[in-house]
Amino acid sequence: MILPATLFLKQQTASLEGTNVIRKQTTLRTLKGIFSDSKAFEQADPNTVIYEVEIHDNNLKEGHLGGLFFGISHIYPGKIGQEYYMTRGHVHQKIDTGEYYWGIDGTGLLLLTTPTGETIIKEMIPESVHYIPGKYAHRLINTGKTTLSVGACWLTESGHDYRNNDSLFHKKVLEIDGQQTIINQ
Ligand SMILES: [Fe+2]
Repeated sequence: MILPATLFLKQQTASLEGTNVIRKQTTLRTLKGIFSDSKAFEQADPNTVIYEVEIHDNNLKEGHLGGLFFGISHIYPGKIGQEYYMTRGHVHQKIDTGEYYWGIDGTGLLLLTTPTGETIIKEMIPESVHYIPGKYAHRLINTGKTTLSVGACWLTESGHDYRNNDSLFHKKVLEIDGQQTIINQ
């Protein structure tokens, strides 16, 4: 007996489709303190969707040992003040666990902070594959004009630790005079 395929990574639309797909939106109101221009943050519509995640619900719970999660993050194009839309960013609760990211559509950056506090910024483009070692903080930034869609595969035991976001990242990426500019946080 051959079972029909039920879950698809649709390359053309950069989306996860089929059975047991969960979608979660992150609106601006939940990202207070993440963007540096607090005035621009207050002036923007708090219901603006900054990013959205599609995850395959494989019936495993976060914290389960030995399993994997698979999903796609979509970071929409836009800026708060001069700062590009980006994810909240995190380290893993089980801090020594790694993760793979790969570019599906759009262009942006993968901002990493090493365990010794150094910043590594990697170009995130379609078909690029990035291994994020354990203990590295990671955040996606959409520097392009279209949606940045990035696939991810991580361990069910990893969890997400968003604490102390200011201490997780030391660089900001702004658009100044039309140029992508990296500044110290
Ligand atoms: Fe992660």
